[in-house]
Amino acid sequence: MRTQALLDAATVESLLTAAVAAPSIHNTQPWRFRLDADSQVLEVHSAPERTLPLTDPMHRAQYLSVGAAVFNLRLAAVHHGWRPEVKLLPDPHEPGLLAAVRLIGPLGEDDQPSDPGLYEAIARRHSSRMPFTGRPVPEPIVAEMAAAAHAADARLHIPDIAGTRRLLRLTAAAELRNRAHPSRTAETLTWVTAPGSDASYGVPVTALGPPDAAGRMPMRDFTSALPAVRRPALRFERHVQLALLWTPHDRREDWLRAGQALQYVLLTATVHGLRTSLLHQAMEWPDLRAATALPRPKRCHPQLLIRFGYGPEGARTPRGPGHSAARPAGPPATDPQTGSRLRSLTALRPEAHGGRAGGNPYCAGASGSSVARSVSCPW
Ligand SMILES: Cc1cc2nc3c(=O)[nH]c(=O)nc-3n(C[C@H](O)[C@H](O)[C@H](O)COP(=O)(O)O)c2cc1C
Repeated sequence: MRTQALLDAATVESLLTAAVAAPSIHNTQPWRFRLDADSQVLEVHSAPERTLPLTDPMHRAQYLSVGAAVFNLRLAAVHHGWRPEVKLLPDPHEPGLLAAVRLIGPLGEDDQPSDPGLYEAIARRHSSRMPFTGRPVPEPIVAEMAAAAHAADARLHIPDIAGTRRLLRLTAAAELRNRAHPSRTAETLTWVTAPGSDASYGVPVTALGPPDAAGRMPMRDFTSALPAVRRPALRFERHVQLALLWTPHDRREDWLRAGQALQYVLLTATVHGLRTSLLHQAMEWPDLRAATALPRPKRCHPQLLIRFGYGPEGARTPRGPGHSAARPAGPPATDPQTGSRLRSLTALRPEAHGGRAGGNPYCAGASGSSVARSVSCPW
């Protein structure tokens, strides 16, 4: 008779710490975890109080963020010797339940992660919004990043120089529209926090980068409504290295898959000493998002642009507590973290005095492509 291995509190804490280290749009961390101790299922719910109604009305970016957290969760489970079984959107009657990760460990001999470095990279990965050196990233590393996306059921397109210019132009157009949209700039600003703030969510001013002195790199201006806090302009790399993450479908589950693929790509880049930052602005305007799609194949749904290269490490951003696992999943009556974020914002804004590939249905696609064959999912 086989007895079920039991999860201990320290392991749960460690799994959640890994999960919440994922990138999320505006560092909203739009997830909430709930552990069902009997079935050893970690549920990942959406956090409705941490969404962006104007920037992300369809919640696509929220799903990408949650997908990235799920990827970290499964990597951490394997690291701790547990075999994770992931179901995306497991209950049609509970739309806020975005994923359920059942820990069915222990791992067998053959289940060892293909690249233990990925788990270690979780804590090292930060967005870097600083200029990169422009040193070209060797082709085998780029191929490995593309294979990682493919293994997680998404695709990574690496544009040529003309394609890169086009994607940057579309992003710049979106950035201009965002800046001209007072309610969007106000929404973004509520997620920027002052230096020294104890907020657990949002992007600290210290993690924001400078504008590009040459005007070529359309980095998101989080503080366009507050020019006084903008950093002095610097020159960005002349040859920008970009990747377009896309999926062949555009349903909620595809967004969650794209988020997992995003994190797999970012961690692969981190393992190789690359820095990354994300450009999502064009995805926030339907016509511009459509314009970023590849002409072929016909079913190309762009999800995000990833800028990568060599350069300075990005600043750390804070995280909310990972230990909410044992709590019920419903939103709290008040969110003390959000409260502290808003308090810090008021201080900032002067005028505001007011499984393995093949064995896991969520990691298919490791066969049938020469690119994908070299990389399999790390569980
Ligand atoms: C779906 C998505 C969209 C994002 N879009 C942008 C963006 O347009 N510009 C940007 O500077 N960062 C963007 N980010 C990065 C987040 O701001 C960042 O992940 C968050 O602040 C946490 O910081 P970290 O990545 O250093 O952990 C995005 C992240 C996600 C997941």
